[in-house]
Amino acid sequence: MSGRRPLVAANWKMNGSLESMGGLVDTISQGVSKETKAEVLICPPYVYIQELGRAIEKTEIQLGAQNVSHMDSGAFTGEVAPAMLKDFACDYVIVGHSERRTLYGENDLRVAEKFVAVQANGMIPILCIGELLEEREANTTEEVIARQLDAVIDLAGIQAFKQAVIAYEPVWAIGTGVTATPEQAQEVHEFIRLRLARHDHETAEGVRILYGGSVKADNAKQLFELADIDGGLIGGASLVAEDFLTICHSVR
Ligand code: 13P
Repeated sequence: MSGRRPLVAANWKMNGSLESMGGLVDTISQGVSKETKAEVLICPPYVYIQELGRAIEKTEIQLGAQNVSHMDSGAFTGEVAPAMLKDFACDYVIVGHSERRTLYGENDLRVAEKFVAVQANGMIPILCIGELLEEREANTTEEVIARQLDAVIDLAGIQAFKQAVIAYEPVWAIGTGVTATPEQAQEVHEFIRLRLARHDHETAEGVRILYGGSVKADNAKQLFELADIDGGLIGGASLVAEDFLTICHSVR
């Protein structure tokens, strides 16, 4: 109906080894074909991108990174530039994951700068937004989401969302085993789409909004069925090939 192809993305965070990820990729690529309804993406740790990128070259699986520098080059020890990720055929880059925001102090402006840098280098940003538990309890979820989203709209412009993905990840649901209820998730997803539609209806209708936060093999289907949920960003469950494949095949 919407014409949005669902996306299921694995965020492997700082887990695994070259060997374990190779095995994971082998099994996942055997289970994903041209017939798979969802677009499937893996985001390995930086150092494994090259090797795993080669392993999926002839498969239907896409490649992404978990983070990137907002700068092009220079004296930024330990950082990785967007063009370097492009060099290794990354299609997507996650920006503003809550772990980056809370553990590494990335603010809304920095996240917006990364979003712009990713697009400037011909890749698609996956913009993560989401509220803390305290913020939900204080009834400020929409305020927080609007602030995080507006920072990117202000810097990048609404049209930039034609080449972007949004991931709604309530921080209280990440790695906790507590998943947002389908109602809670759909409510925020709809809010995000309406917020974009204020600027441009067509862009809002076209953008894929993923849900992330304790998506598992047994709850993916009911989340993915909802009108404004266009797939998922999967942490823990994406480290188990069978579970991740079940999630990939749960899209409507
Ligand atoms: P979990 O699926 O482990 O809750 O992690 C979600 C996440 O942070 C994906 O980016």
